[in-house]
Amino acid sequence: MINRFWRIDRRPEGNQFAEALSLHEAQLGPAPDGQVTIRNAIISMDAGTRMWLTDRTDGYQPPLDLGIPMTGLVVGEIVDSAHPDFAVGEWVRTFGIWGDYSQVDPVMTGAVKLAPGVADKRAWLGPLGMNGWTALWGIERTGAAKAGETVLVSAAAGATGILAVQIAKLLGCRTVGIAGGKEKCRFLTQDIGADQALDYKSDDFAEQLSKAGGIDVYFDNVGGPILDHVLKNMNHYGRIAVCGLVSDYNGMRTAPAEFDQVLMRRLRIEGFFSPDFMDKGDELTARLKTWVDAGELAMPYDVTQGLEETLVAYEKLFTGGNIGKVIVELEQ
Ligand SMILES: NC(=O)c1ccc[n+]([C@@H]2O[C@H](COP(=O)([O-])OP(=O)(O)OC[C@H]3O[C@@H](n4cnc5c(N)ncnc54)[C@H](OP(=O)(O)O)[C@@H]3O)[C@@H](O)[C@H]2O)c1
Repeated sequence: MINRFWRIDRRPEGNQFAEALSLHEAQLGPAPDGQVTIRNAIISMDAGTRMWLTDRTDGYQPPLDLGIPMTGLVVGEIVDSAHPDFAVGEWVRTFGIWGDYSQVDPVMTGAVKLAPGVADKRAWLGPLGMNGWTALWGIERTGAAKAGETVLVSAAAGATGILAVQIAKLLGCRTVGIAGGKEKCRFLTQDIGADQALDYKSDDFAEQLSKAGGIDVYFDNVGGPILDHVLKNMNHYGRIAVCGLVSDYNGMRTAPAEFDQVLMRRLRIEGFFSPDFMDKGDELTARLKTWVDAGELAMPYDVTQGLEETLVAYEKLFTGGNIGKVIVELEQ
């Protein structure tokens, strides 16, 4: 059969993704020994993958090679199997490709069979997927947030941030979200239950932040200039859980000018990375599922239809065009 997929032709400049990736077609044969063929139903758009498209070699994983299909998390149905533990007709979430089909070794790519009872399969890429684990781990373990503390979250109206805000709230914290624009701030306080929301694009952002009260835990998705503002507003012995640096992923690599506040305020800064705790995936998913089932963990989806529109969806992560989890749904 024919498989269409997005191929990485060159390293993108800024958000010029259409000049760097192109849609290709190739014949797909039967699944080789130990592999399965998955018909992708949903492709997850994740901001962290932008780093894989650069040529930096000191990241948490090597850059993706040029000339190969773009990698990403997918949910889909197995349509061909040469693996004894995975059968045709089963639905899985795994690292696959931005294509109509992903042909993978399901063990090597971390394939997880979708448990029955979750009607909305998109949840396996959001609250029950990497975004959910990351938010829970970062708030509870890395940030060590305690009831009554103030937790600040950047990129708070995006997939990971929305979950971090809600989880902090469920753990009894006071929550403050940072997002770009009034609409996102309104969404955070009215729909997600954040106690306060700050618009980092407004002229008085620094003043708003200083009036928001001291911060005990900062769940940082962004880095860059926002981190400098936050460093000056942390409480003594506060914790900064570095989840992501989306403002730097296109190669900016800024360093915080206010780094001395780490000493002055006796702060702890720690990065964390979801593949490091993949072995805890079942345990994390079970806890997240309890909240999802109780209707306590909301996630809006920003849905784009059709593989050919993938780059439009991807760009939203870097221009702030999304509220919630960005996904691409493929015709089945
Ligand atoms: N450590 C891990 O294991 C792990 C796992 C998953 C995700 N992450 C990280 O979590 C973060 C969010 O990823 P996601 O996939 O959930 O994407 P997302 O939050 O759904 O979308 C990215 C958001 O980032 C904001 N943004 C983009 N450029 C910005 C800039 N220059 N300054 C400030 N905000 C900016 C935009 O919102 P605004 O409109 O508010 O600007 C955009 O909506 C990323 O840093 C990602 O690497 C880390």
